[in-house]
Amino acid sequence: MKPVRVGLLGLGTVGCGTVNVLARNAGEITRRAGRAIEIEMAATRDLSRSRGCDTTEFQLVQDPMEVVENPRVDVVVELIGGEQRAKALMLRAINNHKHVVTANKALIAVHGNEIFAAAQTKNVMVAFEAAVGGGISIIKTIREGLAGNRIEQIAGIINGTANYVLTGMRDQGREFAEVLADAQRLGYAEANPSLDVNGVDAAHKLTILAAIAFGIPLQFDKVYTEGIGQLTRGDIKYGCELGYQIKHLGIARRNGNGIEMRVHPTLIPKRRLIANVDGVMNAILVAGDAVGPTLHYGAGAGADPTASAVVADIVDVVRALTTDPENRVPHLAFQPGALASVDIVAPDMFETAYFLSLTAVDKPGVLADVTRILGDLEISIEAILQKEPPGNENTVPVIILTQRTRERHMNQAVSKIEALDAITRPVKRIRVEHFND
Ligand code: NDP
Ligand code: HSE
Repeated sequence: MKPVRVGLLGLGTVGCGTVNVLARNAGEITRRAGRAIEIEMAATRDLSRSRGCDTTEFQLVQDPMEVVENPRVDVVVELIGGEQRAKALMLRAINNHKHVVTANKALIAVHGNEIFAAAQTKNVMVAFEAAVGGGISIIKTIREGLAGNRIEQIAGIINGTANYVLTGMRDQGREFAEVLADAQRLGYAEANPSLDVNGVDAAHKLTILAAIAFGIPLQFDKVYTEGIGQLTRGDIKYGCELGYQIKHLGIARRNGNGIEMRVHPTLIPKRRLIANVDGVMNAILVAGDAVGPTLHYGAGAGADPTASAVVADIVDVVRALTTDPENRVPHLAFQPGALASVDIVAPDMFETAYFLSLTAVDKPGVLADVTRILGDLEISIEAILQKEPPGNENTVPVIILTQRTRERHMNQAVSKIEALDAITRPVKRIRVEHFND
């Protein structure tokens, strides 16, 4: 089957991220989508600037309308940003019977009602997963996974730049402007960063979330909006001293009179999960009557995380173009004929660190025997604790924390340790995962 051809509008942070993810994961993406995806043409203002992606495989043009009018382009991906130009391009693409994907929350929040109506008359798809929550698939989750619920509330950290700035001010005591400049350099901020600072970007996202959660039209002008510009390091510090973190939240909830939509800095008790979401990470709490509270977490901005959502939308479009409706999403995510034969790793080849709990007779030399057994098997020890014997017993609990090792080495070590006369009970082992790589 011939490849689906994509036209990209914009090759900035997200545009280049999309080029890179499509190239890096081309094989897996094709196995999922059922067809290869190729970039036919991309538009960018400055054709000479070197970019963080390979632009040699497709045609580069300056006029985005050329992409939209190109008959070889099946799917237009809008990553230019802004409202009026993006809207004109989207409507033209739809008019040309092209499916469209966008990461542009301002466009969807403010002009989405009109764009969706146009798409409906032309029978084309408009996909916008990347518009909210960066790489978190929150739109698909609410629209599909939680479709059985009456949604009661959505509350989230939905601007990565604002969260990055607040975290930098709190943890490193840095100045607001300095941390914001960092977020811009890292590609998290909007082209106009005041949208991140004054809360408007979060209000755009909340508008979209509220519409899909409560089944209401997009109503950006009804969102109460405050930004983070007035917050000082003092506010953050004093909030912490009182047991709170200050987070910039978007909240949409039902109350007796209708639906509240508000965006503002909020104090949250430190023990709440969402209070511990730092840096560019986003987290969105969705509470439904059936499921209860759910929390969705991930990178809220940046090239690859956002591209992850853009590419997922492209795959959705390609599946719709390629397969019959009953088989649109393959049962096992990959097309049935494209499942791979990859070895499943045997348990003795797992690699992890261990917490070992031993019961040993309280006499000299026992610890030396245990550490020799571990050393002979090249298992490094991170820490050892020997506790007081409980009551009048002559055995003591010994706790050993190891560094990462293969399960089969640990199996041998445990057999040898248990064979020592001074070890009176089976060794208990609990695997340790740091999740920091
Ligand atoms: P950038 O500013 O990095 O990139 C914009 C791209 O569009 C650039 O390649 C620019 O060209 C091109 N462009 C702008 N105007 C024109 C024009 N008139 N004609 C041709 N090309 C044009 O933006 P981002 O990639 O950061 O953001 C793109 C969209 O994705 C925005 O809607 C943003 O809100 C959204 N988004 C961004 C996220 C992020 O983490 N950055 C996350 C989620 C959504 P040139 O490079 O030559 O100037
Ligand atoms: N500027 C936005 C943010 C990009 O920082 O969250 C992701 O939408």
